[in-house]
Formats: sequence, C-alpha cells, structure tokens
Amino acid sequence: MLNTRAKCPPCLARAEEDDFAAAVLDGLSRPQKSLPCRFFYDARGSELFEEITQLPEYYPTRTEAAILEAHAAEMADGLPPGSVLVEFGSGSSLKTEILLRQLTQLGAYVCIDVSESALEAARARLAARFPTLDVRPIVGDFSRTVALPADLAERPRTGFFPGSTIGNLTPAEAGCLLQTFRACLDAGGRLIVGVDLKKDARRLHMAYNDSAGVTAAFNLNLLTRINRELAGTFDLAAFRHEAVYNPREGRIEMHLRSTRRQVAGVLGRPFRFGAGERIHTENSYKYTIAEFHELARRAGWQPTRVWTDESNLFSVHELVAGSL
Ligand SMILES: C[S@@+](CC[C@H](N)C(=O)[O-])C[C@H]1O[C@@H](n2cnc3c(N)ncnc32)[C@H](O)[C@@H]1O
Repeated sequence: MLNTRAKCPPCLARAEEDDFAAAVLDGLSRPQKSLPCRFFYDARGSELFEEITQLPEYYPTRTEAAILEAHAAEMADGLPPGSVLVEFGSGSSLKTEILLRQLTQLGAYVCIDVSESALEAARARLAARFPTLDVRPIVGDFSRTVALPADLAERPRTGFFPGSTIGNLTPAEAGCLLQTFRACLDAGGRLIVGVDLKKDARRLHMAYNDSAGVTAAFNLNLLTRINRELAGTFDLAAFRHEAVYNPREGRIEMHLRSTRRQVAGVLGRPFRFGAGERIHTENSYKYTIAEFHELARRAGWQPTRVWTDESNLFSVHELVAGSL
C-alpha cells in the first residue's frame, strides 16, 4: 500500500506553532516581527486573493492560466487511467478546471487547502461543472504530511501546485516541501508546479502595489483576523501596506508598517511598535528556470518539461519523482 503518512522533513515538522494564536504571539515577539502568510486565507482573505488575481497589474494568474490553456493536452498526455490529481493549496480551483477538461481519464481530484470556505465554494462549483468527477476536499496544511483517502491509496498520482505558492517559502523550505510532496506522490509520481520567474523589478513592484489597493486590503486583513479571533486591538488605520523587491534574496517582501509609536494587544499581551517599524507578512520568491531545476533536483525530483509564456513572465514545470 502506498504510504501517505511518510515522516515530514524536520524543517517542516512544526507542532503547535501551526495554531494561529501561538504563531501570532511568537511572530510578534521576535526582534523582526513577522506573521506566517498561510493565515492570510480566512474567508475574507480568500475572497481578496481572488480579487487580486483579476487585477490588471497582477500578471501571474492570467499568464499561468494562458500557459495551462496552451499546454494542458501535453500535461494530460500519458496520465494513467484512474489516476488521482492532488492539488496542494487549491484555493478556488479555477485554474484546475483547465486541466480537468483535458484529464478525461481522471479517477479523482483531491484538493487540499487551509481555507474551508474556499474548498466548499470550489466543491460546489466543480460538482455543477464536472458532475461525474469524484472531488475530495481536504482541509489541511500541505506542509505537514497529508493522508489521502484510503480508497485512493493504490491509485497513480499526479500533483498540481500552481499559483507560485512555492514562492511563499524560502528556497530551503521549498526544498523540504518538495520532499514532502515526493513522499505523498510516491516513486514515479508527477508534479506540475507553477513558478513565477525573475523579471524587471518595476513590473514586480506594480503587481504587488496595485492602484485599487486590493493587495493592501489583503495584507491588512491579517490584522482584522487577529482582532476578531485573538481579541486583538490593532488600529488598522495606523498600519500601511508595503511591498518591495529585495534583489539580493530574489523576492518580493510584504510588510505592514506602523505609521506611529503604538501598542497593540493580542490575547491580553501588549506588543510595542516604533514609528516606521514593520511586520513581515509574506515573501514571494522569484526563480530562473535553472535555479528552480536545481532546487527540484536536490529535493529528489527530475525536471522533465517546462512551459513559459512569450514574455518569460511565468513558468510551469513538470517534475517526475526519482527513487529515494
Ligand atoms: C497563492 S494562493 C493559490 C491558489 C490557487 N492554487 C491558484 O493557483 O490560484 C495560495 C493558496 O494556498 C493555500 N495555502 C497557503 N498555505 C497553505 C498551507 N500551508 N496548507 C494548505 N493550503 C495553504 C491558501 O489558502 C490559498 O488558497
């Protein structure tokens, strides 16, 4: 029987830090205050992310969708009948529909996300659009080992990890995550992964500082969530969204900058902010194709094909699991 409970690599084997309260108290207690980006996705956060994907400045979603539209048939080619498509961080599953239209031989679609509301909306829409498709939503953290439904354990699997979600992790964490996926998908498994490419810093700046302020609302929603769920006392008007490209690290960094000296409470604990002090909320790493191939190989994956758009903004990679 395929083992879907293989041990997490130690760097991702988090215990109770996953708990929102513990993660927030820990992150705000550090010299460089930070909050883990997976907590962006409460119901409102997931809605705001969908709005971001429609913004004129935000090229990744429509570019990746166009790559999928152009090459989905090649991606579907060779998929054994009865296979399971496992999507990590599936969100709305909107882009997945492009693949699903080609994957007529699919046995089941397993979608994993921390956002229950996003999964439920996707499940209802897919049931209407693909009435014969066996859809299995799993609410969970994909960086922990996720157990697939027992009745699907013997089926061949293909992983799908679009949206450049891998860019939210440091390269070291991304390598560990690819090892976790490797254990979930097993030897011979395939992974289709979307990766944002390095490019002109101005283009990146515009994508994460949109003129309609939706990315700012998405970032600030994290404080709203803390206020609501953790008896927080953040004054949202006293924090400002900031997204900057760090060329040395090859990443966009999102921050919330305190506009004045202030104290904000979380679960009764006070946290002091200097004027201008920042909370680091998200990284979005950009890769060259060669850099990503190197990362994948180190994690036990063999890069087999890569598809890009004409302007080389975004890449979609096919990886095949090597034997461990
Ligand atoms: C950048 S969005 C991408 C959504 C979708 N795959 C797409 O390409 O449009 C990231 C998604 O991953 C989910 N997510 C983030 N961290 C996660 C984690 N550790 N475990 C499971 N889901 C996670 C979020 O809830 C969100 O739906």
